[in-house]
Amino acid sequence: MFRSLFVRLMVTYFVIILSALLILGILLSSFFQSYIMETRKAELTREGEAISQYIRLYLLGFIDSRTLHYQYQIIDRFLGVTIWVTDERGYIWSSYNSSELEQVDWENQKLTLDEFVQVLEGNSITRIGRFGESFPVPVLTVGMPLKINDRIAGTIFLHSPIQGINRTLRDTYESIWRSAILSSLLSILLLYVISRRFSRPLTEMNLISREIATGNFKRRVRIRTRDEVGQLAMNFNAMADALEKLELMRRTFVANVSHELKSPLTSMRGYIQGVLDHNIDREEEEKYLRIALDETERMNRLINELLDLSQIQTGQFSMKFRVFDINETIRRVLIAREDQINEKGMDVEVDFEREECLVEGDPDRLQQVVINLLDNAIKFNRPGGLITLKTWQFKDLVYVKVADQGPGIPSEEIPHIWEPFYQTDKSRSGKKSGTGLGLSIVKKIIEGHEQNIWLNSQTGEGSAFIFSLKPGRKQ
Ligand SMILES: Nc1ncnc2c1ncn2[C@@H]1O[C@H](COP(=O)(O)OP(=O)(O)OP(=O)(O)O)[C@@H](O)[C@H]1O
Ligand SMILES: [Mg+2]
Repeated sequence: MFRSLFVRLMVTYFVIILSALLILGILLSSFFQSYIMETRKAELTREGEAISQYIRLYLLGFIDSRTLHYQYQIIDRFLGVTIWVTDERGYIWSSYNSSELEQVDWENQKLTLDEFVQVLEGNSITRIGRFGESFPVPVLTVGMPLKINDRIAGTIFLHSPIQGINRTLRDTYESIWRSAILSSLLSILLLYVISRRFSRPLTEMNLISREIATGNFKRRVRIRTRDEVGQLAMNFNAMADALEKLELMRRTFVANVSHELKSPLTSMRGYIQGVLDHNIDREEEEKYLRIALDETERMNRLINELLDLSQIQTGQFSMKFRVFDINETIRRVLIAREDQINEKGMDVEVDFEREECLVEGDPDRLQQVVINLLDNAIKFNRPGGLITLKTWQFKDLVYVKVADQGPGIPSEEIPHIWEPFYQTDKSRSGKKSGTGLGLSIVKKIIEGHEQNIWLNSQTGEGSAFIFSLKPGRKQ
């Protein structure tokens, strides 16, 4: 039951609030209890002193017993008191019965209690209880000496039933608890809303991550807040987007690889079957077998490129960095491609800022970059067009440019040409050989050098690939 975050939050918050209210309630109750007791004691003491004044006046003959009694009544109306006035021997000579208690004739009864002795010695006392079984219910008693001409002539005792005090206390308690219950109800409501708000995105993420694990990438979490949970939801959605894209890429990659392998296999199968079935003239046989051999070479190349790509992607490919002359690499690649370039009647312009251009990197991998870019330039250049190869240094970097005068690449396709198997619209560039892996390998190698590659191209105006390299210093 306590495993869900929502319930746990609710219960924790509720326990905290409830215990806070409980402690507050107990503290307030005890505070009010002592406060009310103290106030009542103070009132009784004050009234006791007022009475002693009247008694003095009575004893001196300034007021009669009716007036005295009238004073008792007034005090009783406010405090519900029983009043005893005794002489120094303890005999009650004047008394008044609380309107809240049973009527008893106290007069001429004798007090012998310890409290009486204490008061007679000049002390004021307060007691709670039945005052030595004198009352059937607990009372609050205040006792004080009756002084006449600075001599203790007797005592005054005022008893006020606790019941009255308790009633006031009960009223106070009731309002404390009533507000406590009301505020707990309110806080439960608030807690429910807050806990729901807090736990809902987490529950949603939980559910959706389970769906993602089973291959459904469609659903996203609704972002409701901007706090940490909201940020988590945002990042979760970004992760789901990335996973969805990756999954799509993986699928198209597999589909492309299968397709690229299938077509040479089908044609090879056709040619070999033809030869075996003797459907082909003896003189033609060699020609068809040669085509089949070409196809195996194409497949071999494709598989090597795929292996390269996967090794670079998984980081298994260790680059061996050293300082070398990139101009020399370009020269060697140009010599290797000389025949092809001449065959197509293209011109090459080589523009090296300096004779030697030292860079730091993996020479074999960077040669592969130059080969791939030059092959593309040769493949896509217009017949008789110019190919430009340029190197120069600007600030802290060396730049290499490979440009042609081919059909160019439309700007909307530029971001995609780095994806494996991506080839621009063939109808425009005519049927060209290739699998679309060259540039993705180039990009990965340049990224492995922590450098960048850019493409400047517009339809009909040729393309220029430029990449940066770290300059090297001779050891
Ligand atoms: N210089 C260029 N001019 C025009 N289009 C180009 C040029 N270079 C690349 N492209 C476009 O980008 C696509 C991808 O190039 P990439 O080198 O990756 O593949 P490819 O040359 O078709 O095949 P591969 O290099 O694997 O043999 C090409 O098919 C072509 O459409
Ligand atoms: Mg290529």
